[in-house]
Amino acid sequence: MRRESAEASSKLILLGEHAVVYGQTALAVPLKDPRARATVAQDSRSRSVAVELKDLGVRWDGASPAPPEAEPFARAIRAAVKRSAAVPAQGWKLSVRSSIPAGCGLGSGTAVAAAAFRAIFSYFSVPHTPQVISELVYEIEKLHHGTPSGIDNTVIALGRPILFKRGEPARFLKAPRSRGFLVVGHTGRRHRTSEIVAEVARARGKDPARYDALFRDIGVLSGPGAEAFQAGRWQELGRLMDRNQELLDDLGVSSRELDVLVDAARSAGALGAKLSGAGRGGCMAALCGDAAGAERAEKALKAAGAAATFVTEVSDSAQD
Ligand code: MEV
Repeated sequence: MRRESAEASSKLILLGEHAVVYGQTALAVPLKDPRARATVAQDSRSRSVAVELKDLGVRWDGASPAPPEAEPFARAIRAAVKRSAAVPAQGWKLSVRSSIPAGCGLGSGTAVAAAAFRAIFSYFSVPHTPQVISELVYEIEKLHHGTPSGIDNTVIALGRPILFKRGEPARFLKAPRSRGFLVVGHTGRRHRTSEIVAEVARARGKDPARYDALFRDIGVLSGPGAEAFQAGRWQELGRLMDRNQELLDDLGVSSRELDVLVDAARSAGALGAKLSGAGRGGCMAALCGDAAGAERAEKALKAAGAAATFVTEVSDSAQD
């Protein structure tokens, strides 16, 4: 039976979440691990497109109403069929598996959708650019996240570290000049990005001057952050991440669990640490200048109660 698989990386925002929704620049990187994988296979007897979500144990026949977990894939399939006459509305199936924890700031929903589009287009030999994948994924994100800035779909679809500002083409970063390591710690608490973004919007509505000043203070970190990233000046990038964490705390999106992990990583010698993504739970990230430092930070995160940890070497691509 013919089949075609494709993958997509997770993502980490190093600087600028929340402020990026308000037009400030943010810095984000794809993470090779964890990642999502989608497979398209022939299913010639089927009159619809079945979906299997392997991690969740969900199977949907493609004909009955989609369960909530399969809804984004139902939409992705419809979008792919609409986009190209080469993609039929029956006779194949889509299965997805992902090691990216959901609702924790690593872009799990975005990555599975990107992997699904890539697998569908390669199976049916539909030419596609990363930009097309990014746009299609963005349409799906809008449905469950309301007003996404576009940073998640962009960094995951392009698969390279970027400076991102709403409404402008992403700027790619060059490979860092020295080795650096990112250590991610998951608080174990899931969050809903849309709710946190809406809460920040409500708070800003009550005190726009204060919030806009915080967004600006966050936004100015990304330019120097990109320079430090490319030069491999990890101490400097770490300091910027620490400053960003202070400002995110002022925005009210940190949490006790996040603070515990951030403190644990710093005490273990990390060069900087902050929450990553929407906050109020989800993940934090720590930056280390060498593999031994990353190992120490990971150990400290585990000892402090992290539900999951991931270590990745910083690089200029999501590919191996
Ligand atoms: C989510 O990964 C990052 C936020 O800035 C929301 C967005 O950019 O859409 C919190």
